[in-house]
This record gives sequence, structure tokens and C-alpha cells, in this order.
Amino acid sequence: DKDYLIAPSILSADFAKLGQEVDNVLAAGADVVHFDVMDNHYVPNLTIGPMVCKALRNHGVTAPIDVHLMVQPVDRIIGDFIDAGASYITFHPEASNHIDRTLAMIRDGGCKAGLVLNPATSLDYCKYVMDKIDIILLMSVNPGFGGQKFIPSVLEKAKEARKLIDASGYDIRLEIDGGVTVDNIKQVAECGVDMFVAGSAILKEPRTQDAYKTTIDKMRQ
Ligand code: DX5
Ligand code: ZN
Repeated sequence: DKDYLIAPSILSADFAKLGQEVDNVLAAGADVVHFDVMDNHYVPNLTIGPMVCKALRNHGVTAPIDVHLMVQPVDRIIGDFIDAGASYITFHPEASNHIDRTLAMIRDGGCKAGLVLNPATSLDYCKYVMDKIDIILLMSVNPGFGGQKFIPSVLEKAKEARKLIDASGYDIRLEIDGGVTVDNIKQVAECGVDMFVAGSAILKEPRTQDAYKTTIDKMRQ
């Protein structure tokens, strides 16, 4: 496994050219495709679902697809994402009535499972399920939209999450999502984060593979 994973969020892609955008960002060196699922209920926005995930697989995308569920209820959409070729499935614990069961559904379907914590949501949600998660995803913005400003209090939280993971002895990725840029990624990495979502910082004009590569290379440095 790579030490650091860069996961561009296709929320900032040109949806009219989604296949091409995903091909370009992967050819530019992205490790993972971050796939934001919003339901206009858990969050005030509406995006893409299992059919689009399946379409990307049919298009030939073989890279891991990191499905970030911002939906409530959670459970009934999980099977569809497993069938659609998701690799990781993460959800917000407040949106599930039975967190342990939801995690089990994801792993039983052959996917990696994770919890997503909003900026004000406690790390304690992870404490009793460390053996059942592959990812802790810390939101560094309030979920719902790309292009928001990074909330700095999550840096302390990331350090705490890193301690929790190291003390557990489990192989768990620490992922961050929201407002990550070329300018702050180093500081975020120093807090123990090893998987970085970035939407608007990568997927922007001029929308060429070269431009995506320039940004991803800078982030990796
Ligand atoms: C926000 C989404 C993020 C978003 C990040 O709810 O979960 O994945 O696309 O976008 P940026 O990197 O622009 O903050
Ligand atoms: Zn996301």
C-alpha cells in the first residue's frame, strides 16, 4: 500500500464529461476516485448514485472508488453500491440507527468500511468499532458542497485520531475531506492524515490532464 493516497472528489468534475474527467485525473496520478453521494435530506444537495458508479466501472475505471455516503437512511443503498463496484464505503454515524450493523453490511459485501465524522462529531463513535473499520474520514468542512474553507480545529482532531489508530494496532486509513489545497496539505499530513480528498483544488479550469497532474504532483510533494 502507498503511504499517502490522493483522492480527487468528482463533485467538482464537469458532469457532462464525467468519464473523461475521471480518466484524466487518474492518468494525472490520482490514487482513488472520491465519489460524493448526497440525498437532499442528510445534506442540502443532491448528486449521484449507484448507477453513476456502475457507469464509471463500465467505462473502464479500475481504480478504487471511495463512496462517501451523505444519505439518511444509510442501509438500503449499500447493497446497490456494492453491486455497482464501490471499493470503500463510508457513512456518517448519525445517519445510521445501527452503526455496527451498517459496517458489517459493507464488509460482508467485500468493500472496505469507514465512518465519516463531521467537524463537530466526536471521535468516540469510532472507539468500539476499531476492529470493524478500514477508514476514519474526518470532515474538514460541513458536508454538502465543494469549495468551502478548511476548518482548522480538525487538525487537533486528526492528531487524536492518529493516536487512536496507532494505539489500536489496526490497519486503518485516516482520511480528510474538505478545503484541502496545495498550501495546507503538508500541515494536514503532519497531523497523521494519510488519505486526502480534494475537489475544487484539483478539478478546475482548464480541466486538462496536465493541469491535474501539476496540482497532484504538488500535493504529493
Ligand atoms: C463535501 C464533500 C467533499 C467535497 C470536497 O460534502 O464531501 O468531498 O467535494 O470539495 P473541496 O475539496 O472543494 O472542499
Ligand atoms: Zn466527500
